Amino acid sequence: MSDAFIGTNVDIAATLLKKGEAVAIPTETVYGLAANALDTRAVAKIFSIKQRPTFDPLIIHLPSFDKVQDYVEEIPEVFTRLAKNYTPGPLTFLLRKKDLIPDIVTAGSPYVAVRIPNHTVTLDLLSKLDFPLAAPSANPFGYISPTTAMHVADQLGSKVYYILDGGPCDVGLESTILALDESGKVEVLRKGGLSIESIEKETGPVTVRDTSVSNPEAPGMLTSHYAPRVPLIIGDVYKLSAAANTQRTGIIAFSNFLPDIPTKHQIVLSPSGNFTDAARNLFAGMRYLDNCDIDVIFAEPAPESDLGIAINDRLRRAAHRD
Ligand code: TXA
Ligand code: MG
Repeated sequence: MSDAFIGTNVDIAATLLKKGEAVAIPTETVYGLAANALDTRAVAKIFSIKQRPTFDPLIIHLPSFDKVQDYVEEIPEVFTRLAKNYTPGPLTFLLRKKDLIPDIVTAGSPYVAVRIPNHTVTLDLLSKLDFPLAAPSANPFGYISPTTAMHVADQLGSKVYYILDGGPCDVGLESTILALDESGKVEVLRKGGLSIESIEKETGPVTVRDTSVSNPEAPGMLTSHYAPRVPLIIGDVYKLSAAANTQRTGIIAFSNFLPDIPTKHQIVLSPSGNFTDAARNLFAGMRYLDNCDIDVIFAEPAPESDLGIAINDRLRRAAHRD
């Protein structure tokens, strides 16, 4: 349960971060658990609070794209172009790091993941600091990412001093992570809050990596992730629920309620079929159903385009059982 101090005071957050503490922060994608990225001991607190394996590297957050050059060796022209259009925003770049980024942040990799979050409160916070913030999503490792301050408090409240409340997250899915492959082509390492179509408008066709547990290069992209405790099955929700105990079944549907399942056990992501709304509601909906007294969640995949691609990726990871 929650012992944390939840508030909207950026100065408190900044003071704690300067002292080397971990603080939960809002971003437009999901809430992060932040610490001074240049301070190994502060970063170690993140891993310990989240119970995150140290092989899973962290994204660093900066107040503007101009600052990125202070922490990385070089910025490919295509990333600068993308940044012009899409930062601040739900987009993360993998870049060769300078030595001042400690190895704990990158799990020993020579590359560091960098993003500029599009949230006024956190941009204000970052502008008060002379270091980047390393911040993974503020959930226990493997569970659904938090999209409100209360989600963070429910799970990590006894372990963090301060949760900076910036309201519900606007995007609701983690950032899209981009790297360059050996031939200099843009590669999507994690599908996320910026659609592949938007990226391709700037870059032309990109490669999309379908990472799994057997691919250790992006260790955070474990096949089983973002998972509720209640088993989640993806498919035709009408057929699946016809054969189930309707009173103990939860539904995640894209735009329509099902007739035979109690309404309180159904999450309709967007009645108007809008991808942005659906993405924003996905994690909160999964959490809500996970706290209902049900035995199973049946989830209908979103149409496979735009943010539907990242929504379906998260549903698949939520459904996967090792
Ligand atoms: O939207 C987001 O990106 C949120 C907010 C808080 O910014 N952060 C987030 O962090 O989703 P996290 O830790 O839950 O996921 C970060 C993932 C890692 O699991 C890994 O897949 C990838 O980013 N990553 C980070 N640094 C990397 C590196 N040096 N090399 C390869 N992958 C990296
Ligand atoms: Mg995460």
